[in-house]
Amino acid sequence: MPSVTYISPDGTETTLEARVGDSVMDTAVKNGVKGIVAECGGACACATCHVYVDEAFLAEAGEAGPLEDDMLDGAASERTNCSRLSCQIKMSDALDGLKVTIAPEQV
Ligand code: FES
Repeated sequence: MPSVTYISPDGTETTLEARVGDSVMDTAVKNGVKGIVAECGGACACATCHVYVDEAFLAEAGEAGPLEDDMLDGAASERTNCSRLSCQIKMSDALDGLKVTIAPEQV
């Protein structure tokens, strides 16, 4: 199982084993990681699952699609070139060791 580490805005790190195919958001919510609100449940319609992907994994995580791109423009926290909506990143073996920093404001 690939692992994913969530870094909270206060620096706390939580590393979890993820099921291949589950999103980075799903994995966090199922395991009680705080800071990912996910109001829309993963429909790419709320931007409350905003994370900053570690630069080493940006290429593997892929680019935001057009809808995600629009939603990120309205995210509560600053958008950077590492911003993604965590419900739109599916875990895979290639993402083993992924690190994401949770955006400080989600709503
Ligand atoms: S959970 Fe709503 S956009 Fe990701």
